Amino acid sequence: MRSKRFEALANRPVKKDGFVKEWPEVGLIAMNNPGDPTPSLTIENGVVVEMDGKTRAEFDMLDTFIANYAIRLEKAEEYMKMDSLDIARMLCDINVPRATVVDITTSITPAKITEVLGKMTVLEMMMAQTKMRARLMPSNQCHVTNVKDNMVQIAADAAEAAIRGFDEMETTVGIARYAPFNALAIMVGANVGRPGILTQCAVEEATELDLGMKGYTAYAETISVYGTEPVFMDGDDTPYSKAFLASCYASRGLKMRFTSGSGSEVQMGYAEGKSMLYLEARCLYITKGAGVQGTQNGSVSCIGVPAGVPGGIREVLAENLLAACLDLECASSNDQTFTHSDLRRVARSLMQMVPGTDYICSGYSSTPNYDNMFAGSNWDAEDYDDWNVIQRDLKIDAGLQPVTEDALVEVRAKAARAMQVIFRELGLPEITDEEVEAATYANGSQDMPDRDVVADLKAAEELVNRATAVDFVKALDRGGMRDVAESIFNIQLQKCAGDYLHTASKLTSDWEVVSAVNYKNDYHGPMTGYVISDERWKQMSDIPWAVDPATI
Ligand code: 5AD
Ligand code: CA
Repeated sequence: MRSKRFEALANRPVKKDGFVKEWPEVGLIAMNNPGDPTPSLTIENGVVVEMDGKTRAEFDMLDTFIANYAIRLEKAEEYMKMDSLDIARMLCDINVPRATVVDITTSITPAKITEVLGKMTVLEMMMAQTKMRARLMPSNQCHVTNVKDNMVQIAADAAEAAIRGFDEMETTVGIARYAPFNALAIMVGANVGRPGILTQCAVEEATELDLGMKGYTAYAETISVYGTEPVFMDGDDTPYSKAFLASCYASRGLKMRFTSGSGSEVQMGYAEGKSMLYLEARCLYITKGAGVQGTQNGSVSCIGVPAGVPGGIREVLAENLLAACLDLECASSNDQTFTHSDLRRVARSLMQMVPGTDYICSGYSSTPNYDNMFAGSNWDAEDYDDWNVIQRDLKIDAGLQPVTEDALVEVRAKAARAMQVIFRELGLPEITDEEVEAATYANGSQDMPDRDVVADLKAAEELVNRATAVDFVKALDRGGMRDVAESIFNIQLQKCAGDYLHTASKLTSDWEVVSAVNYKNDYHGPMTGYVISDERWKQMSDIPWAVDPATI
């Protein structure tokens, strides 16, 4: 006979998830792998001659890059002698200032920091994360995509996402050739919702850079780096080619961050028997060494891999914390879907929601999941009220706030109209009034009429060869949408000033740059660091569907 209890448990959503026992030899181990190198560092005449158990002659290209560019050598030998447990204690101790810890953690080797984090529980790591986050206040980022690549819907969803609180938004494509329209739509829609939102379009690297240079986007984040040499080589890349790409973005005043995350090396079959955290440490040191201000990490698209092994979600938090320890901006994943269990997806996200990171999700789906073209997100538009209630329950600021239906309808309509104006002014295939209305009230692309894809693709391809952001500004102005024109103009102006290239930047509606330079995280215990203001608390906690006792 079968146990009815076991039968009930067998039918739970969590039982559909994939789990695997550890297999250290191929890298199927999250942290604390006996196969990881023993930390060590020898410097002679200002040059690293030995690191983490390898002599300079034995270095692969990642080791060389890290040794040359990623470690501050002045006090490195002294800090390498510190007990890793002491450093771990300093990380979660409110009496040790962030700057003191950063001085140490930017001066030690990848194996050393991996050992330090291996001594911490998730609770201690969350304490450390609160202190180590670069920017004073946390924020959030969303995905804006749909299966039809419908640009009117993208604009409307971006506008809604803006009033819900996201400071950064990214789109991508179903069909690659739609990229110019999607990039344009997310930029316009986002800035209708709230001036100053940064937008990106994740596509093939050359196209993405081109879109940035032409003013269709304001930042980039899907520039991938990996923790072992063969995985880099597989993508025809090196740390040097990625550093070169990073400097191309910087040359045009475009914000950018690298992406990395545990699981990619195992998935590619080249983990070299190392733990996921150690390999991710190498990725982050390469990011630091390339002079890049930040990272999108926390396994990201490979989340199924760490999530399948013991302690995997602990490791994902350790990765995010490691980024902060290197004084990098961290957009902390919580994006790709990895579980059938609602309980698990919340538990995974609390690791970043509670302490706060620079961008808690680096891809909260602003659409229903069927429209998410980043292979589905851990959070989507149909979870908006749950997210808001969790913030309200715990009194944490995880970046969002509730909206009224009237406000939602108003911004969606305006964003859709802005696209209609631009398309009309630039002679692009018509956006009809029916499409504007459908996008205003839509939940997802199933509520949108189909467009002539062939005509759109031809027009998109031709647009990118003749129009830059200046043309969009002029078109909006001619079409009577001066305020939107001004916002798109101001986004471009930021690239000339360059202030938003500072670590962990975002923009306010008044075009002030908020970054880790002018808003440093100075957390050192209760009532310090980022404290939710009365005004913000009212905005977050005031859910329209709560009963007002005074009216009963
Ligand atoms: N390692 C490196 N790059 C990643 N990306 C996502 N996850 C990882 C990872 N673990 C990048 C890829 C992908 C985009 C969504 O982000 O470039 O296309
Ligand atoms: Ca992202």
